[in-house]
Amino acid sequence: MIDCEIREMQIPDIPAIMELEKQLFSSPWSRDMFLQEINSGFAFVLTAKETGKILGYICGLLLFDEFNITNVGVAPEQQKQGFGEAMLKFIIARLLSQKCFKFFLEVRESNAAAIALYQKFGFEILGKRKKYYNHPVEDALMLGMSFLQKQEEID
Ligand SMILES: CC(C)(COP(=O)(O)OP(=O)(O)OC[C@H]1O[C@@H](n2cnc3c(N)ncnc32)[C@H](O)[C@@H]1OP(=O)(O)O)[C@@H](O)C(=O)NCCC(=O)NCCS
Repeated sequence: MIDCEIREMQIPDIPAIMELEKQLFSSPWSRDMFLQEINSGFAFVLTAKETGKILGYICGLLLFDEFNITNVGVAPEQQKQGFGEAMLKFIIARLLSQKCFKFFLEVRESNAAAIALYQKFGFEILGKRKKYYNHPVEDALMLGMSFLQKQEEID
């Protein structure tokens, strides 16, 4: 397994990330969308330590006390090695340290790999957004997880 590290996403990273986007998604994000994420302060890349090559990325938006994971991807040839999990762990730890305990996201109903990843972290299905995606048209599942709720269950 490649030795990797996670660091903040920077503007010069965008072209390489957009190349991955094209491989991973049928409606890839634009440069402006990644610029927005960089400005929001919660955009990170996973890079190979030796070469600096970008192998994955994760970003999201903090709105008051809720964090919405807006995008996550791992290069096709590097999937199923724990990198998606490592990035999710990293961003959740970062938010918890900033006293944000509520996490949300949308995911294609057919995206079994991503759903399994989120459920491994304790995300639960909260509902559906009808025809949320295009290319192809598909419903989104809304997933959420609250560390506050977990704490209440323990108390
Ligand atoms: C979803 C994605 C980010 C997962 O990244 P990854 O690095 O391959 O995932 P990991 O190796 O960290 O796997 C962690 C867990 O996710 C689940 N998982 C990952 N890939 C899976 C697959 N192909 N099938 C089923 N479960 C899968 C498993 O529960 C796995 O845990 P395990 O290894 O103990 O079984 C990756 O598949 C991807 O980039 N997909 C395309 C982009 C995408 O769909 N992004 C999500 C948009 S909401």
